[in-house]
Amino acid sequence: MCGIVAYIGPKDATTFLLEGLQRLEYRGYDSAGVAVLGKSGALKVCKTKGRVADLAAALPARFKGTTGIGHTRWATHGEPSDANAHPHTDNAERIAVVHNGIIENADELRAKLTAEGAVFRSETDTEVLAHLVAAHLGDGEGQLEDAVRAALKLVVGTYGIAVVDSAQPDRIVVARNGSPIVLGLGEKEMFAASDVAALVRYTRQVVHLEDGELAVVRADGFRTFTEDARTVTRQPSTVDWEVGSYDTGGYEHYLLKEIHEQPAAVERTLSGRLDERFATAHLGGLNLDARELREIRRVKILGCGSAYYAGEMGAQLIEELARIPAHSEPASEFRYRNPVIEADTLYVAVSQSGETYDTLAAVQEIKRKGGRVLGVVNTVGSAIARECDGGIYLHAGPEISVASTKAFTSTVIAFALLALHFGRIHDLSPADGRRIVSALKALPGHIRQILEQDEEIAELAAKYADNAGMMFIGRVRGYPVAREGAQKLKEISYVHAEAYPASELKHGPLALISPELPTVALVPDDELLDKNLTTLGEIKARSGRVLAVAHRAPEAKLADHCILVPKSEPELDPLLLNIPLQLLAYHAAVALGRDVDKPRNLAKSVTVE
Ligand code: AGP
Repeated sequence: MCGIVAYIGPKDATTFLLEGLQRLEYRGYDSAGVAVLGKSGALKVCKTKGRVADLAAALPARFKGTTGIGHTRWATHGEPSDANAHPHTDNAERIAVVHNGIIENADELRAKLTAEGAVFRSETDTEVLAHLVAAHLGDGEGQLEDAVRAALKLVVGTYGIAVVDSAQPDRIVVARNGSPIVLGLGEKEMFAASDVAALVRYTRQVVHLEDGELAVVRADGFRTFTEDARTVTRQPSTVDWEVGSYDTGGYEHYLLKEIHEQPAAVERTLSGRLDERFATAHLGGLNLDARELREIRRVKILGCGSAYYAGEMGAQLIEELARIPAHSEPASEFRYRNPVIEADTLYVAVSQSGETYDTLAAVQEIKRKGGRVLGVVNTVGSAIARECDGGIYLHAGPEISVASTKAFTSTVIAFALLALHFGRIHDLSPADGRRIVSALKALPGHIRQILEQDEEIAELAAKYADNAGMMFIGRVRGYPVAREGAQKLKEISYVHAEAYPASELKHGPLALISPELPTVALVPDDELLDKNLTTLGEIKARSGRVLAVAHRAPEAKLADHCILVPKSEPELDPLLLNIPLQLLAYHAAVALGRDVDKPRNLAKSVTVE
């Protein structure tokens, strides 16, 4: 949520800042801005409501500097506007600040600073930081890093920040508390960003700041230290992913690329984790031995949005394969209801980004009460991953499009591995273990078969896209699939979509069924097939249109259209049934001319409450 970039070195900073912001735009895209310092130290700021392309168009011709910071915003305090866009400056226009996160005591600080003479020009919480840093520098010759450190001591909240001072153009000060900051190490030049996606084209050597740390960054290096001015040593690490992982790779959108990357992503999630000899899974990062796992009586899964729905599929897998009661709950609700934390419950936090604030807060609440939390996380070293006691990394690769697809699928795979591991410690037979192992190995091929139907699904999407709404139904294992399918459609196409358990239709929503509200029905060939076919009959009897996603095409009188998916084992079928729904949502969004990768009002990582 919001993106930060910074550059210091011999080259023109603006080039990197604009390109970096474009790469981070998926994190927030309602306004953008940059500030640069020329060699003489003159501060130039340009910011505008709209996209990074609007900012590039608004930049004056002679907007040059060798030290600079930039920001792309997802509004929290104040509407998207030129004035609320970052960077924010103090009254003397000496200090410029970009910020991700929320300053909780901004009102109090604003009142105090106003009384001292500061004049505020935006509604943002960030502007207080610019005035606060300026106040700590005073008229004297203090060091920028000391002023930032002193200012942050007065701040309550979360932040990733980058600060420049026109009187000290040889440095940028960055700080992190709950919102990531990564330094990029170049040859006689240094970069910083809120996400490695902005850096990989320039350097693969990075340093991740920890919460509560600051860094003073100069063209020839950096120094990291704590809020108490204690120097800390941070060793650089190498970014694993290729530069191409952050590009669209010839696809029209990141979303389509990421949908098509799923076979490879699943292979990576499975890689080295299947044990054919004992028909189980190896999950080295759990940090729980078999005896500790046997003591677990319940599993509680927490995540937000699609991560929560993936958790629902995970809960079903754990209950079916390990026969341990398991339940998924939105982390955003859990954290506010003073949850009872039980010693024999295993808590599992799910997050692609590893930054989602509600999920992080839920993890912290569980840990504060002495519970044990595993993370199922895509982003290595992210805040949630670090906060958990152990876990499973997805290795799905960078997910750029706001709508989650490959990370969703890899999360379900991770839960299948966890359920298999648990099951084989409990009562899952070797034969059933082997059945799941071989079904997991076959999944990438099955996903490829579904993706080959891309064109046919695009044609179907065009037929259904112009309806005001759509109903998604599924029974038991199919219900989380219906929920995720509805979520994907509304998120990127803005078509209203509602998900219901198929069994609940006749208890109310059947009243909505009409030719104008088509139903996407999940019809796996399992023990509930007859029940699902009966529901289709009830919809058709009310003149409803049905698009079935099935293993076998229902009779023509029960479904208007059908997308066929290959059959896996019943426990893993939901994962495959979901893939056509991703393509359906994608093509519906394209048919409606939506901004597929950056849907309105949303951002990739929701790092605010
Ligand atoms: C998914 O399509 C959504 N963009 C959203 O629901 C997302 O899954 C949710 O915000 C959680 O994100 P996380 O996995 O990064 O924690």
